[in-house]
Amino acid sequence: MENVVEIHHLTKIFKDKKAVDHVSFSIKKGEVVAILGPNGAGKTTTMLMMLGLLNPTNGSAKLFGGEAKEKWVREKIGVMLQDVSLMDGLKVKEILRLFQSYYPAPLSMEQLIKLTGLAEEDLKRRTEKLSGGQKRRVGFALALAGNPDILFFDEPTVGMDISARNMFWKTIKQLADQGKTILFSTHYLQEADDIASRIILFNQGSIIADGEPDAIKNKLTRQSVSFITEQRLPRKMLIEESFISDLIEKDGRVIIVTDDTDAVLAKIYSLNLQVKDIRIEKGRLEEAFEQLTNKEKEAI
Ligand SMILES: Nc1ncnc2c1ncn2[C@@H]1O[C@H](COP(=O)(O)OP(=O)(O)OP(=O)(O)O)[C@@H](O)[C@H]1O
Ligand SMILES: [Mg+2]
Repeated sequence: MENVVEIHHLTKIFKDKKAVDHVSFSIKKGEVVAILGPNGAGKTTTMLMMLGLLNPTNGSAKLFGGEAKEKWVREKIGVMLQDVSLMDGLKVKEILRLFQSYYPAPLSMEQLIKLTGLAEEDLKRRTEKLSGGQKRRVGFALALAGNPDILFFDEPTVGMDISARNMFWKTIKQLADQGKTILFSTHYLQEADDIASRIILFNQGSIIADGEPDAIKNKLTRQSVSFITEQRLPRKMLIEESFISDLIEKDGRVIIVTDDTDAVLAKIYSLNLQVKDIRIEKGRLEEAFEQLTNKEKEAI
């Protein structure tokens, strides 16, 4: 499948602050990718460089094999930035019309209303009179106006109420089903897990994990299989397995620390070990996520 995004060693240094540090990845058509990371991780800076809105200190970003600054590339992109700023003095309907006019094959006003849940009365209001949440809805409509092939959303749901949020994700799923490529940033692991087919985890300007949500979760959580046995264990044989990271004996239980509890169970059965009271523990994900990002901070 073709890559619609290709970035190589993208780096941004602000004065003496390295905001993004040699970040490389590619995204295929139809992927729904979450860029996940804490405040200051470099999510926005990376997106702005991908969009050609900020010049990288080093490295390159290509969309559809071209530069985001080129018109033919721009026509395939829809964007909602972290701070939605709308032109003052225009009614919502006018600004939507204006955006539609920039694109060769825009969505109709009816489609935009349906996809974003904008109300008829909102369309007549001036942009400066909208609430934060309403502005976001308009920002969402503007991102969709050109019926783009790829959509970028920077922290899209911040400031949205529950119904706006649900509407937003419902539409995103619909767009993904149509084969659109979607990239969004978030602080929320849950959001990334619910929506994305892939998570790219950022911290301190670098990618610290990249993969399917389940694989990322397995990587983040400390999991274990523990049991009681009266047998002598083939310790060496167990610890040599790539999916076993530690084997501890504590309070009469054997605890096998792993990133794949199923594989440990299969191993126990294949060795025909006499075990009882098997327990499987999976660490709390949010906790692991916090620990991981904090740990990285301490190491620097
Ligand atoms: N224009 C700028 N000038 C100086 N430093 C900047 C600038 N923009 C960002 N930074 C710094 O670069 C780092 C990464 O910022 P960035 O906005 O990309 O993070 P983020 O992951 O989007 O965070 P958040 O979740 O808070 O939006 C931060 O330390 C930030 O202070
Ligand atoms: Mg940001």
